[in-house]
Amino acid sequence: MSDTVTIIDNRTGKQVECPVIKGTYGPPVIDTNALYKELGMFTFDPGYASTASCRSAITYLDGEQGILQYRGYPIEQLAEHSNFLEVCYLLINGELPNKVQLDDWENSIKLYGMTHEHLSRFYNGYRYDAHPMSIMAGVVGAVASYYHDVTDIWDADSRLMTAKRVIGKIPSIASRCYRYEAGFPFVYPDNSRGYIENFMNMMFSRPSEKYQPSAIAIRALDLLFILHADHEQNASTSTVRMAGSAETNPFACIAAGIATLWGKAHGGANEAVILMLEEIAEPKNIQKFVNRAKDKNDPFRLMGFGHRVYKNHDPRATIIRQACHDLLDEMHLNLPMFEIAMELERIALEDDYFIERKLYPNVDFYSGLIYQALGIPSNMFTVMFTLARSAGWIAQWIELMEDKEFRIARPRQIYIGSEKRDFVPMDQRA
Ligand code: SDX
Repeated sequence: MSDTVTIIDNRTGKQVECPVIKGTYGPPVIDTNALYKELGMFTFDPGYASTASCRSAITYLDGEQGILQYRGYPIEQLAEHSNFLEVCYLLINGELPNKVQLDDWENSIKLYGMTHEHLSRFYNGYRYDAHPMSIMAGVVGAVASYYHDVTDIWDADSRLMTAKRVIGKIPSIASRCYRYEAGFPFVYPDNSRGYIENFMNMMFSRPSEKYQPSAIAIRALDLLFILHADHEQNASTSTVRMAGSAETNPFACIAAGIATLWGKAHGGANEAVILMLEEIAEPKNIQKFVNRAKDKNDPFRLMGFGHRVYKNHDPRATIIRQACHDLLDEMHLNLPMFEIAMELERIALEDDYFIERKLYPNVDFYSGLIYQALGIPSNMFTVMFTLARSAGWIAQWIELMEDKEFRIARPRQIYIGSEKRDFVPMDQRA
């Protein structure tokens, strides 16, 4: 039995043998490259629900089983035993670092923590109340101008240098989005602190007093960044790859990913979840919102629920729910919204509408509650997602640039417009 699929055009009887590609895991894939040449036909898959865009060795997820692995390591094990910087190394280099490699990696990332002093002027061009994701997209795009002439996208060392710059500089850029709007002076990186603690210091410290975040808070943020670091070919990662396929500047690719992640159907959902929970306000209002989410005539969707791939529990949501519970206990915090979130989850998961459509809480459902407990304002939640996912984006960009099947991404379409017609002079128009 050959490893092919035969596609037959029943209108003409013409057929084409398409190779079947099998990966390490996951469904077999039909290579339809020959389809247009042999049958003069395209495939049609709006939203790319069943289209593989590339071969990748970085992240594997199984939506039916609720499995997520970075370079083969289960997310549950990385969440328990690793830290975000080590996960960045793993995503980019493909293997866990030994002690020497990890020390070198951490020290080299610190070397890239500063940004050009002129970059701080870019923030002043934003309205005082600009959404931080608007600032992130603009400022990260501006970073491209500082390294454009020294970045060789076809050189491995230059790509690794770019990865270190992205991972090193994004925390400083992100913290300044918050401080610009809050009216606080920008804080420079402090390399005597660890990566997460350094970021928290740039976010929350005040010139007038010493700042030391709790170990609990540092660990909670580190865990969230691990869980958000990569997620195979999601919308923002696919955007980064699409931009990268045009051989554009990698910082411009990351800026395009940031713009995509901002959408509330994607990374913007964590902020939208908190706004929804605030609107629900009390458990007695939950059913009204669940009914709205089920009403086809109401555009409202239950934020933090559903996923294109996970048709079982999002393993990240399971880990975050527990972490949220532990953090609130450890911090002796009583967040009424956590109770509302758990009650909303219970009600939704018992409702046939959600059961039939396999809609479960996703990574964004509980993450905002942890960010809130850490004192991060809701309009900065997607910036947190950006900081973490920039590691996955740059790892996927590197893999794209090394891909022997590299070519510019250029999807086709079904044209449904007017047939050919002649120009109509003005005096003959209706
Ligand atoms: C992220 O891709 C990734 O990996 C993304 C991500 C990552 O790490 O990069 O995991 C991060 O983006 C998580 C998702 C965060 N977004 C939200 O929480 C927003 C709310 N969720 C929905 O917008 C929706 O579930 C999506 C966008 C996440 C998925 O959209 P799909 O796959 O296009 O789902 P669909 O429109 O095909 O829905 C199938 C059915 C529809 O009903 P019917 O037409 O079959 O009657 O389920 C319904 C939808 O109306 N539905 C919902 C719903 N999500 C889907 N109904 C109510 N509330 C919801 N949240």
